[in-house]
Amino acid sequence: MHITDFKMDFTDKITLNWINNDPYMTVIFNALSIGLPVGERMFMIAIKEHLPKITNANLRQQCSIFINQEMNHATMHKAYNKAFCQYNQLSLESLEKPFRDAFEQLAKTNTAQFRLATTVAIEHLTAITSHMYLEYLREQYKMPPELKQFWSWHCQEELDHRAVAFDVYMQIYSDRAYLNQIFEQTTKDILNLYKLTAFAIIVRSRANIKLFRNWLEHETLLTHKNGIYQYFQESFANFKSESFHPTSYFGSLKLNFS
Ligand SMILES: [Fe+2]
Ligand SMILES: [Fe+2]
Repeated sequence: MHITDFKMDFTDKITLNWINNDPYMTVIFNALSIGLPVGERMFMIAIKEHLPKITNANLRQQCSIFINQEMNHATMHKAYNKAFCQYNQLSLESLEKPFRDAFEQLAKTNTAQFRLATTVAIEHLTAITSHMYLEYLREQYKMPPELKQFWSWHCQEELDHRAVAFDVYMQIYSDRAYLNQIFEQTTKDILNLYKLTAFAIIVRSRANIKLFRNWLEHETLLTHKNGIYQYFQESFANFKSESFHPTSYFGSLKLNFS
C-alpha cells in the first residue's frame, strides 16, 4: 500500500455530460462524489478510535496509510464538488446536507463497533464501484483525460486499502453476524441516500426526471442479466459468506457486462 500525491484544480475541467456524453451516468458519478468527503471523514474517525486496540504493527501501518489516503480523497472530492456545483449552479451545501446529517449522527451516537462495521460495509460498496470503474467504465467510456485520471486515482487507492477496515474489525471484534446485519442496513441506507441525491441533482438542474427514471429501469448496462445491478447483488451476497475477504475477492473478480 502506498499514498499517491494527487492535486488538481478542477476549474474549467468540468463538462456538462463528462462521462461518454451520458447525462445520467454523469449524474450518478456527481452524486457519488457528493457523499464522499463527509463519509471519508467518518471512516477516518472509525479507524482512528480503534488504533489503541490494534496490536499488529503491519495493520497499524496500513491504518495510517488508509487515514492519509481518505484525507486526500476527501480534500480533492470537496474541490471537485465545489467545481461541478458551480458549473451546474447547484448548492453544494444543500446537496451535502443529508450525508452530513447521517454521518454526524453516526459519529456522535452509536458505538465504536457500529461505526467500524458501517465503515467496512461502505468500503465494500466503494471497492465494488472502484473495481467496476477501473475494469469496465474507464476502458469503455470516453471522458476528459483529467477527470479520468482523478477517478482512477481514487478508485486505485480504494482497491489498495479495501481490506484495512475489514481486517481491523476482524482483529478486534470478529463478529461476522453483527457485521452482516450492519451491512444489510447500511447498503439500504446508503443506496437510498444516493438515489435521493441523484434525483435532487436532476430536479435542481431542471433535467427530465421521467427520462432519468426510465434510464434507471431500462438501461442495458444496468439491467442486463450480466449488468451492474446483478454485479452489485452478487457482490452483496459474497460479502456475507464466511470465507469472504476483500483481498481474495477482488483479486479474482472478472467483469463482463455484455
Ligand atoms: Fe476514498
Ligand atoms: Fe476507502
